Amino acid sequence: MTTRRQFLTQTAIASCAAAESMNVGQAVANDVRSGSRPSIDAYRIAHTDLVVSRLGYGAGSLLSWDKEPVNADDITKATRLVHVAYDNGITLFDHADLYAYGKSEEVFGEVLKQSPGLRNKIVIQSKCGQVFSEGGLGSPIRVDLSRKHIVSAVEGSLKRLGTDRLDILLLHAVDALVEPQEVAAAFEYLHRSGKVRYFGVSNYNTPQIALLEKSVRQPIVVNQIQLSLANPGPLTEGMQFTLRIAKGGRMSDESIGLAGSGTIDYCRTNGIQVQAWSPLRGVLKLPADASPQLKATVQLVAELARKKNTTPAAIALAWLLRHPAGIVPILGSDKPEHLVEDCAADRINLSREEWYDLFAATAA
Ligand SMILES: NC(=O)c1ccc[n+]([C@@H]2O[C@H](COP(=O)([O-])OP(=O)(O)OC[C@H]3O[C@@H](n4cnc5c(N)ncnc54)[C@H](OP(=O)(O)O)[C@@H]3O)[C@@H](O)[C@H]2O)c1
Repeated sequence: MTTRRQFLTQTAIASCAAAESMNVGQAVANDVRSGSRPSIDAYRIAHTDLVVSRLGYGAGSLLSWDKEPVNADDITKATRLVHVAYDNGITLFDHADLYAYGKSEEVFGEVLKQSPGLRNKIVIQSKCGQVFSEGGLGSPIRVDLSRKHIVSAVEGSLKRLGTDRLDILLLHAVDALVEPQEVAAAFEYLHRSGKVRYFGVSNYNTPQIALLEKSVRQPIVVNQIQLSLANPGPLTEGMQFTLRIAKGGRMSDESIGLAGSGTIDYCRTNGIQVQAWSPLRGVLKLPADASPQLKATVQLVAELARKKNTTPAAIALAWLLRHPAGIVPILGSDKPEHLVEDCAADRINLSREEWYDLFAATAA
């Protein structure tokens, strides 16, 4: 008997093959018209009219980080990946002006050109603010959230993507020298001119969001942060008591710290969508310096995957999806078959017991 998951996987892989043997852009266009693809559960982003799949695809891995011009092979590869993502229900596509030195946005623009109708079916989000110094990748990055930089970065992204608007713009990092009034002026201009519909941040904690919110008129609707079973920090901060009892430790008189800025709770309270970047990095392939708790977590993930007849990737993503904050993992695979496996997380339900077992295993 073919399960729903096997059927969807076979369908998705078959459509990858079909996309390869015909004009791949046309294949996407056909799917857009037919509306026959499976869907992933979706969330409405508060304060907006945007509805996005609860798994997003990050364009950071679409192309390699070199300064060679985008070529026909790059376009074929990117079209295939975008097709597989869309075909498996993903409608949120995450970019940044600096990914692959702008080539990720450029090649995505080529995909959009070949796929009439796709632009209006998806939500395009990009980021700005991180600026490489001369040496490129690996050299120091300076953060610049001046009005001038934000506006020119967005105009560059729009040009490369070949679109007239970003659905969401995220500030890619906190600028230690930020003048919130400058950010407010940039947002005002970009919003009034129709170049950006909604705004958010990435890698911000609670007071850093609050500082911006004092000056910026538009609501902050997204915070994209590093979050996974390998990097659970935002989910464990302020949770020391719960963690200690989840690990079976006896209560003692020693003080139970509640340190942390409560980023996730602040986002929940204020309707800010939490997106998780690198949701699988370090979980599927253990780093050489993996801590004992990460090793134990990865083992538990593998056991659960066997028990539920799925992949470790789907379990690790399902752990994020199970959290009531409505966390949206941003996937980064550049292998179609991995992307299909990752999307299967939408159909995996973890019990409270299973979620807490992983929570207790991963936290130090
Ligand atoms: N806001 C920020 O500061 C920030 C920072 C970093 C990233 N991001 C965003 O987050 C996105 C995702 O980041 P990421 O690439 O680190 O994400 P990820 O989804 O955690 O991928 C990490 C690694 O896991 C592997 N993988 C994924 N699915 C797999 C599977 N089913 N089986 C085996 N291996 C699998 C991938 O390798 P394969 O390619 O071999 O499958 C990839 O190298 C980026 O593209 C970008 O959009 C944002």
